[in-house]
Order: sequence, then structure tokens, then C-alpha cells
Amino acid sequence: MSNNNQQFENIADNLAESGFSVCDGFLNSGEIDAILDLKILKADIHSLKRAGIGKESRQVINEIRGDYIEWIDKKHAADPINIYLQQLQNLMLFLNQSLFLSMKDIEVHIARYPAGAFYKRHLDQFKKDDHRRLTVICYLNKNWTQDDGGQLRIYIDGRYVDILPEAGRLVCFRSDLLEHEVLAANRERNAITGWMLDQISDLRHLS
Ligand code: OGA
Ligand code: MN
Repeated sequence: MSNNNQQFENIADNLAESGFSVCDGFLNSGEIDAILDLKILKADIHSLKRAGIGKESRQVINEIRGDYIEWIDKKHAADPINIYLQQLQNLMLFLNQSLFLSMKDIEVHIARYPAGAFYKRHLDQFKKDDHRRLTVICYLNKNWTQDDGGQLRIYIDGRYVDILPEAGRLVCFRSDLLEHEVLAANRERNAITGWMLDQISDLRHLS
């Protein structure tokens, strides 16, 4: 386990204060390497599904988002993914206790953005489905620099904060509140993206 109580406490404090948190070293470099070694990250990016927009229609619109995704089936997840899922589960229980939340489940997908891809400004809750409470993203990109682009831009209080997608960094934010976007990068940009829900995940709509 690479994370600790101090990380969890910082995340809870940040969320209570500003609705988002950035936590470096949530996964250590060995844990990242093990994930990067999985087929889902080594395979040709085009063997994953193009991500869509909206809960029902899942329309693919290049002008809005250009990433490729694969949902994780938690019952059959590979060990390196399971280690991460366990840490997320621990974090969820911690946040429930410290912030008096009642989040119940986590759904997670791998997201791969080819060079040049982006995701325009949006909110993570579906229009008719407000069960996503917290967005949690762990980045998998080693040696990422400012010049690589690909920042997560979170809009808050009439300004914005840019976050580089560096390996091991966990970002979480209020799914109902904070608009955000992914800026285009000039190299492939990979992440495990997930949501903490206030009900049990129904992955049927996500396939
Ligand atoms: C998303 C998203 C942000 C990121 O998948 O909804 O906004 O930094 N991702 O990958
Ligand atoms: Mn989003």
C-alpha cells in the first residue's frame, strides 16, 4: 500500500474546503509500472472503444471528446488494477466517515487519449442521473512535462486551475459542481478514471 492516512486526511480537507484535491504519489512507481504492463494499456489504442457523450445514446463526437475507454469489470480485474481499486474503496470509506457522505460504489474505466485528443469543458453528471458524487482520476504518465500539455483544467470561482497528468497523481473533485476539460496533449495521455456513486453501479449502461 503506497497511500496512508495523511493522504486521505488531506484529500478530505481539500474536498471540504474547495471541492477538489490533488494528491501526488497515490500510486507508487512500482504500482504504476504494473498497470502500464497490462494488455489494456499496451494494446493499440484503437482496440479500445471510442468514448461517447450522454448516458443513453453514447454518441461519439470528435469535437467534444477524443478519448478511448474500457470499463473495468471489478469482479475480474487484474491484480495491479485491484490494488488501486482497494485503495479507492478505502478512500471512499474514509471520506464517508470524515465528510458524512454515503457513497456506496465505485465505477472505473481506463481512458486513453491519443496525441491531439481533448475533452471539452463539461460536468461529469448525466442530465437525468445525479448518482455520481465524486470524480477520481489517477494518471499513468511518466515524465510528463508542461510542454506535453494535456492538463486537466478545473473551473472554479470564475477562474481555473491546471493540473498536469503525472504518473501516480490522484485528482478528485465534486462531480455535480465542478466543470472541467482536458486540454490536447502532444503525446498519448493515459489515466484510470472513476466515480464514487451514491448507489450501486449499474455497468449495463456503460458497456
Ligand atoms: C472525464 C474527464 C479528465 C482527465 O473522463 O470525464 O473529465 O483529466 N477526465 O482525464
Ligand atoms: Mn469529466
